[in-house]
Amino acid sequence: MKETHFDTKAIREGYSITQEQEHSEAMFLTSSFIFESAEQAERRFSHEEPGNVYSRFTNPTVESFEKKLSSLEGSQACVATASGMSAIFSTIMALLKSGDHIVASRNMFGTSIVLLNTVVSKFNIQISFVELCNIEEWKDSIRDNTKLFLLETPSNPLGDVVDIKAISKLAKSRDILLAVDNAILTPALQNPISLGADIVIHSATKYIDGQGRCLAGAVLGSEQIIDQVHSFVRTAGPSLSAFNAWIVLKSLDTLSLRMKAHSDNALKLAVWLEKHDSVEKVYYLGLKSHPNHELAKQQQSGFGGIVSFEVKGGKKKAFELINSTEMLSITANLGDTKTTITHPSSTTHGRLSDDEKVQAGIKDSLIRVSVGLESIDDVIDDINKGL
Ligand SMILES: Cc1ncc(COP(=O)(O)O)c(C=O)c1O
Repeated sequence: MKETHFDTKAIREGYSITQEQEHSEAMFLTSSFIFESAEQAERRFSHEEPGNVYSRFTNPTVESFEKKLSSLEGSQACVATASGMSAIFSTIMALLKSGDHIVASRNMFGTSIVLLNTVVSKFNIQISFVELCNIEEWKDSIRDNTKLFLLETPSNPLGDVVDIKAISKLAKSRDILLAVDNAILTPALQNPISLGADIVIHSATKYIDGQGRCLAGAVLGSEQIIDQVHSFVRTAGPSLSAFNAWIVLKSLDTLSLRMKAHSDNALKLAVWLEKHDSVEKVYYLGLKSHPNHELAKQQQSGFGGIVSFEVKGGKKKAFELINSTEMLSITANLGDTKTTITHPSSTTHGRLSDDEKVQAGIKDSLIRVSVGLESIDDVIDDINKGL
């Protein structure tokens, strides 16, 4: 296909049709594929002949999703996984070995930190946590055996941002791979690879699905990197199901429209919250008051849909407000058309120690809203009651 714009790629890339001439992509719900002969089976198993063998290895629907996402992120290759967590875990397991060292941002999704501390650490892989925005701290944490920088920008729920170009320059100077979790902005609003990242990781469960229907993940990067991750996924088994691949494949068609609408709604809510007397502080990158506003403007093409705020009155008031909402969904997921409301300290970040929470800036009075696509006036009305 000739080089096209983002929205065209989001609809047309990865599109393949069967002899039935269907217009919407088919779903290949099959665990295995048949061979014309024993000889062909032998050739397929030995990789002498390309083609499908078994859906843990490859599946046409999964491949359509991988191709489309890859073209949107501007990567050479992509491997889809069963969830965002398995995308992170597969990246580490495929690319690192016992004795290696990871420097990771402490401002990441809570479970990513738990994964590093409780699972990855069992494989004799050392981990140092640093402040996302502090490049000097990343630099000082490098050891001779550092193989990977792992971060999420902007971070969830507070919207900390790191200069991807600067951190990539540092990583490259020391032969370290840079992996960026791009779940919060998606390629519609940020392209880490064009800024120098080696690997992009997704929880496609979030905005890529965008409607809270399924779990999915992806790892993107050069062919050389993704071959290794694919090899791990096909062997260890956290492969994406064809059914879920079909859902996220179709969702990509509307990704940029949705991300723009999420961002517009989120900005309206943030501006309104900032003026409210019962609100202590609002965290939204689109607000000039956010310390990372200027950097976000430079490296992102939008600010996304997550608005967090601290209420006056601590945890008690935060719980009261959450419980008073009638339309908003009290659920930990984000990136849905439906607006969701969460208390990070007791849910998504509940497994962090008190110390880790302080370091990550997660206070008891903090509420996170993943702003959906309802009329924003109705979202504001629902929050206003409790405030
Ligand atoms: C930024 C980020 N990365 C990764 C994950 C994990 O994704 P999943 O729930 O698909 O495993 C999440 C989940 O909330 C997330 O917010």
